[in-house]
Amino acid sequence: MTDSENPPLSDADFARVDEMPDELFYSTPRLVTHIDESACAALSAHYAKTLRTGDRILDLMSSYVSHLPKSLAPKRVIGHGMNATELEANRQLDEYFLQNLNKTPVLPLEDASFNACLIAVSVQYLVNPAAVFNEIGRILRPGGRVTVSFSNRMFPTKAVAIWRTTSDTGHGRLVADYFNNAQCFEDVTIADISPSPGRTDPLFIVTAHKG
Ligand SMILES: C[S@@+](CC[C@H](N)C(=O)[O-])C[C@H]1O[C@@H](n2cnc3c(N)ncnc32)[C@H](O)[C@@H]1O
Repeated sequence: MTDSENPPLSDADFARVDEMPDELFYSTPRLVTHIDESACAALSAHYAKTLRTGDRILDLMSSYVSHLPKSLAPKRVIGHGMNATELEANRQLDEYFLQNLNKTPVLPLEDASFNACLIAVSVQYLVNPAAVFNEIGRILRPGGRVTVSFSNRMFPTKAVAIWRTTSDTGHGRLVADYFNNAQCFEDVTIADISPSPGRTDPLFIVTAHKG
């Protein structure tokens, strides 16, 4: 368990340069990856170690790739995001839904109905992470696993102030706080899984499971 070293956060920490509705920013499909090929491969390799055949997986804040290893045979993969064209193009999703989590953090999903939840390179865009992490705790089965990944790239106008002004190490601690504050997660762990530091995009993960 990582102990929080961050002071309490204020509304100003979750301010953004662009406070226009997120639907506007995400209305143009971006059929691209947001980290380089090596970092994508490192994330898939991590998923290969932690996801299991038969899992019901929620890919929250998804787009046109979910980074799932080809060898994995999940029972069902439900995607969530902001742009229908991106999610339609994602061949790893069985179904998807659109929802602005900054307006409506409550997920339209049943309690204890997933084995795993993934948030890939997107957590910096949440203005109410406490509500979203509580919801992740609600929809996971006991023992359900979460992987939040991030690199050092972002859409700066849409990332919250605390993210824009914090280092990679600070980002890890911040996400660990999101888990710890939800009070339903165990084994909160921060790891650097950068494939080749200095030569590729860095990649960090914060993982936990539901107690
Ligand atoms: C950098 S992309 C990452 C997409 C994907 N997870 C990946 O690995 O390529 C950021 C994603 O965050 C999600 N996102 C941003 N703002 C959001 C919001 N207000 N509500 C829900 N999702 C949001 C969208 O799905 C968007 O595609």
